[in-house]
Amino acid sequence: MDKRDVVIIGAGASGLMCAATAAYRGKRVLVLDHANKAGKKILMSGGGRCNFSNMDAAPKHFLSDNPHFCISALRRFSSQDFVDLVDRHGLDYVEKAPGQLFCEHSAKDLLEILLTEIEWSGAEIQLNTKIHHIDFHDGHTILKTSQGDITCDSLVIATGGLSIPTMGATGFGYEIAKQVGHDILPTRASLVPITVQPERKAQFAELSGIACDVSATANGVSFQEPMLFTHRGVSGPSILQITNFWQPGEALSINIAPSLSFDDLLAVRQNTPKKSYEGVLSNLLPKRLVELIKAEFPWLNERSAQTSNDQIDSLFEYLANFDIAPNGTEGYRTAEVTLGGVNTNEVSSKTFESQKQKGLYFIGEVLDVTGWLGGYNFQWAWASGYCAGQYV
Ligand code: FDA
Repeated sequence: MDKRDVVIIGAGASGLMCAATAAYRGKRVLVLDHANKAGKKILMSGGGRCNFSNMDAAPKHFLSDNPHFCISALRRFSSQDFVDLVDRHGLDYVEKAPGQLFCEHSAKDLLEILLTEIEWSGAEIQLNTKIHHIDFHDGHTILKTSQGDITCDSLVIATGGLSIPTMGATGFGYEIAKQVGHDILPTRASLVPITVQPERKAQFAELSGIACDVSATANGVSFQEPMLFTHRGVSGPSILQITNFWQPGEALSINIAPSLSFDDLLAVRQNTPKKSYEGVLSNLLPKRLVELIKAEFPWLNERSAQTSNDQIDSLFEYLANFDIAPNGTEGYRTAEVTLGGVNTNEVSSKTFESQKQKGLYFIGEVLDVTGWLGGYNFQWAWASGYCAGQYV
């Protein structure tokens, strides 16, 4: 039987990081994955350029039932630590939005760095491997796989969340956790586009591809970033971000003119009575969206001097509470992450070892730790993988 010190299931971001870290410590490490390629999500992330970290990866940018869990790892392996790693390999990267680091050319460059680290550390990756069964014994674990049996001292579950099943995502990590008595917190697709009711869908299809700056608010949290109209509903940074805090059935408020106050609208009539509100909105919003608004407010092209307070009031309300008529989300098919997962109250925040089963570790997205949009989720994968790699 193949005997290793450490077996890691999942050759994604956290698994690769953990493997190299443990192998540099002299451990015999094998990474198993059922996919035919390592790091598939890294390659597709950030529009192919991977937003690999965020320079402000503070715990406040992560959601978990146990918000303190991520603090230690994020401190022990910071964004700067990851930047130092990619700098040693000469990666070209850019800061696209404040703090958000992307590969300058391609996510392939980043995956290449991780695979080089794997090679230098002496860790091995075995792809196309299905895990049939895992038996936990005192002090060691036996895995029955499609490529034969393997025994190890430490088993690391780095199988990620449920998003993008076509990329190899499975609920396998949750099943193993349940096998040894772990609690799994309810999972849900997040950082995901929102779908809308049929009538809105037909209208938005006409606007598909256009974006505008909005403020999206749910459960007391707001994001002011662009929103993108799509054929199915709405997407873009503000929408993806808000899905970490909103779920279907709950109130969702979208202000499509967040820079415009009621007083600003009144001042238009007072200071520029010849100007129309259509003109005002055209300076702020894409033309096709103004057309949609005009269908609701036919008086929009008249001189503002002719508008009543009630009309201005209803226009303001319409803009500030733009009804996208949310229906649901696109689900795991297109979601970037999975909220919920293995309950972190039952995992050590120092070693990432399970408190239910000695020698079993959980890292990355399979845990109930989810970052905001902006490179936080990869930073969590690197940090948790690195920290566990110190102890396996
Ligand atoms: P990850 O999903 O990376 O790896 C899990 C591995 O386990 C996979 O290789 C899978 O094949 C394997 N596996 C699963 N089940 C298995 C089984 N039963 N047997 C064997 N192997 C199995 N984040 C960010 O910070 N910046 C960004 O730009 C983006 N962009 C982005 C775009 C898109 C389209 C998606 C879907 C996601 C992102 N993310 C992101 C999120 C980020 O990709 C994600 O949080 C990390 O990849 C999680 O790393 P993990 O190692 O936990 O899982």
